[in-house]
Amino acid sequence: MTETIIIEHPAPRVALVTLNRPKALNALNLQTMRELTLALTELDRSGDVGAIVLTGSDRAFVAGADIKEMAPRTFSEMHAEDWFAGWDALTRVRTPLIAAVAGHALGGGCELAMMCDLLLAADTARFGQPEITLGVIPGMGGSQRLTRAIGKAKAMDLILTGRTIPADEAERSGLVSRLIPAADLRSEAIAVATKIASMSHIAAVTAKEAVNRAFETGLTEGVLFERRVFHALFATHDQKEGMAAFTEKRPPEFRHA
Ligand code: HXC
Repeated sequence: MTETIIIEHPAPRVALVTLNRPKALNALNLQTMRELTLALTELDRSGDVGAIVLTGSDRAFVAGADIKEMAPRTFSEMHAEDWFAGWDALTRVRTPLIAAVAGHALGGGCELAMMCDLLLAADTARFGQPEITLGVIPGMGGSQRLTRAIGKAKAMDLILTGRTIPADEAERSGLVSRLIPAADLRSEAIAVATKIASMSHIAAVTAKEAVNRAFETGLTEGVLFERRVFHALFATHDQKEGMAAFTEKRPPEFRHA
C-alpha cells in the first residue's frame, strides 16, 4: 500500500503513477522516494508494462525535495546516508518513462522530470532549479542533466539565479518534448504511452538504452554500441514480424518479448 503515490493502469500495457502529497505540492520526502523507486522498479520488471507515465497535480508536478525534512540535517548525516542516491534506481528502469508535468517542476521536481525519457509539459508548467535561493545547489543531477538538456548558457542562468521558466521557454530550450494544453495533458500522456507500449518492447527498451548511451560515451563508441544492438534485434521475433507485416501490408503483432 502506497501513501504518496497512486498507481493505475489506464490502458493496456500502460501504467500511470501519480504523485499525491497535495499539501506539500508533491515535495519529495524519503517516503516518496522509497515508494516511487520501488513502484517504478516493480512495474519495470513486471513484463506487463510497455510505458509508464509519471505525473503530479494541476498545481504541481513536484515543488522540489522536501525542504522541511532536509533543513535540520548535518553534513555527516547527508554524507553517511548518501542522501538522494536512492534516486539512481530510476536510471535503471528500462521501460520508457514519460513525465507529464503541470504546474511547478522545481528543484528535485525538475530533476525528477529530467530523469524520465520524454517530458510532456502542460502550458501551465514552470521549471527551475531554485536551490541556490536556499543556500545549496541541485542535488539530484540537475547541474548535469539540465546542462546536457539546454546547454551551459541557460543552465547557468537558471542554476545561478534560481529563476524559473515557463513551459514555452522550456520547450524552446529543448527541455520539453511536447507542449500540451493543460486540460489535455493526462489524456495526451496516456496516448503517447499507449503508442510506445504498442511497439516491440525489446526495440523500445533498446532504443532508450541507445539514446541514453549518447550521454555516457563518445561518438565512435556510441555509434558502435548502436550498431551492435541493432544487429542483435535481428535475433528477435519482433524484428521478423515487424518487417514481414510491412511487406504484407498489415499491422504488426509484436510479442513484446
Ligand atoms: C516542503 C513545500 C515545498 C518543498 C512547497 N511546500 N514546496 N514543503 N518542501 N519543496 C509546501 C509549503 O511549505 C506549503 O506548506 C505548501 O507546500 C504550499 O506551498 P505555498 O508556498 O504555500 O504555495 P505557493 O504560494 O503557491 O508557492 C508555490 C511555490 C513555493 C512557488 C512552489 O511553495 C516554493 O517556492 N516552494 C519551494 C520550491 C523550491 O525551492 N524547491 C527546491 C527545493 S530543494 P504549508 O504547510 O505552509 O501550507 C531541491 C533540491 C534538492 O529540490 C537538492 C539540494 C539539496
